[in-house]
Amino acid sequence: MTTNKRRKKPPFVVAITGTPGTGKTTISNAVSKKLDFAHVDVSSIIKSDVKRYGLGWDDERKTIIANIPETRKKVLALIRKNEYKRKGFVIDGHFSPEVCKPDLVIVLRCPPKKLYKRLKTRKNYAERSVKENVEAECIDSCFVHAQQSTSKAACIIEIETSGTVRGDSEKVIHAIKSFMIHNHRNQRFASSSAGRTEKTAMRSKFDYSDECIIAV
Ligand SMILES: Nc1ncnc2c1ncn2[C@@H]1O[C@H](COP(=O)(O)OP(=O)(O)OP(=O)(O)O)[C@@H](O)[C@H]1O
Ligand SMILES: [Mg+2]
Repeated sequence: MTTNKRRKKPPFVVAITGTPGTGKTTISNAVSKKLDFAHVDVSSIIKSDVKRYGLGWDDERKTIIANIPETRKKVLALIRKNEYKRKGFVIDGHFSPEVCKPDLVIVLRCPPKKLYKRLKTRKNYAERSVKENVEAECIDSCFVHAQQSTSKAACIIEIETSGTVRGDSEKVIHAIKSFMIHNHRNQRFASSSAGRTEKTAMRSKFDYSDECIIAV
């Protein structure tokens, strides 16, 4: 006997990652409003209950050490429950790909000199963190991390945020919409290798090696 019961479509999940200061939260705010997606800031979750979502305090970097398995449980539950009935989720955080089983990962990139200036203006931001983060940006560490922590089926795209917030948000919105149109949920797994190929081609645009010297 067959049933005509329609399966509920799970929400679309986009992870927005990138080195601190590349603009994840700024861009995620704009994108989630425009697309009417839920915005989940992974750092806010961790700060909301440090005992549960943290493992301790890194005194040199002045930052909480995240408890990834617990944070993942929380983020996945938010997506699964989808209490606000959104068609999509923007998961914002530099280890977001690890905690949300994303359909699409967007790695935000910023030229190191610009990133250095952004991070230097942050109050109470340890000098060591500024240097480490600029170095991480030079070697595209968030992309490598995203590749390691997502399934092969997830598509990873890099987008530079060195322009205006409005213009760069539009670029991200365009990338998400295009992905949703061209990678229908049923076809997504079949098209995974195309996603990776496209990614590799796009990545070569962001070679910051000339600027590495300013990192140290
Ligand atoms: N094109 C741009 N896109 C995004 N942010 C920009 C852009 N131009 C300037 N900015 C500024 O850069 C800063 C980015 O800070 P934001 O908190 O969004 O970064 P983040 O990646 O979320 O950092 P963290 O990992 O510490 O949470 C903001 O002050 C924002 O106004
Ligand atoms: Mg942020």
